[in-house]
Amino acid sequence: MKTVAICFVCLGNICRSPTAEGVMRHQLAEAKLADRIIVDSAGTGDWHIGEAPDERAQRAAKNRGYDLSTFRGRQITIADFERFDLIVAMDDKNVAALRQICPPAQRDKIRLLMEFAMDAGMSEASGAAQRAPDFDPREVVDPYFGGGEGFEIVLNQCEAACRGLIAALRPQLTL
Ligand code: 4NP
Repeated sequence: MKTVAICFVCLGNICRSPTAEGVMRHQLAEAKLADRIIVDSAGTGDWHIGEAPDERAQRAAKNRGYDLSTFRGRQITIADFERFDLIVAMDDKNVAALRQICPPAQRDKIRLLMEFAMDAGMSEASGAAQRAPDFDPREVVDPYFGGGEGFEIVLNQCEAACRGLIAALRPQLTL
C-alpha cells in the first residue's frame, strides 16, 4: 500500500510545526488515512531539542481537541530529506534555512504549508490576522513573541491548510 511521508518544519519545533502535526494527525484519523500518510515535525533551530511544545500552543490546541503533549522538539537532519516525500515549512525563513542544507536532488520536496490552503480556496482562514499590516497569507504567523491570539490564528491556518494538503494528496493514494 502506498504511503506518503510529510515533515512539518518551523524554527523551534515547539509552536507552529507541532500544531500542524497535531491538526494533521487528527484530520487524517477522521479521514481514515492515518496509515497512509506518515507525519512528523522538526525545527530548523536547535534551541528546543527534547522539549515539549510551548504551553500556550498546547493549551490552544487542547481547547480544539488536539493533544500535542507527547511531541518533543527535534532539529531537522539531512536524512529527513531522504525519509520524507514532502518537507512542509511554515514560513519563508524556514524555506531559506532548509534550502541551505537540502541535498540538491531533494529541493522540490520543500513547500510552504499555506500553499495548500490557497490551493483549496481557503486563504480566508486566517481571519482578523489578514487585516494586520504585515500579514502575509503565504506564511503561518510566528506566535512565539506575541499574545494568545497568535496561537488561535496558527490553529486556523493549520486547520485550513491541512484540509487542503489532504485533498492534494488523495490522488497519490489511490494505488
Ligand atoms: P516555532 O516558534 O518556530 O513556531 O516553534 C518559535 C519558537 C522558538 C523561538 C522562535 C519561534 N525562539 O526564538 O526560541
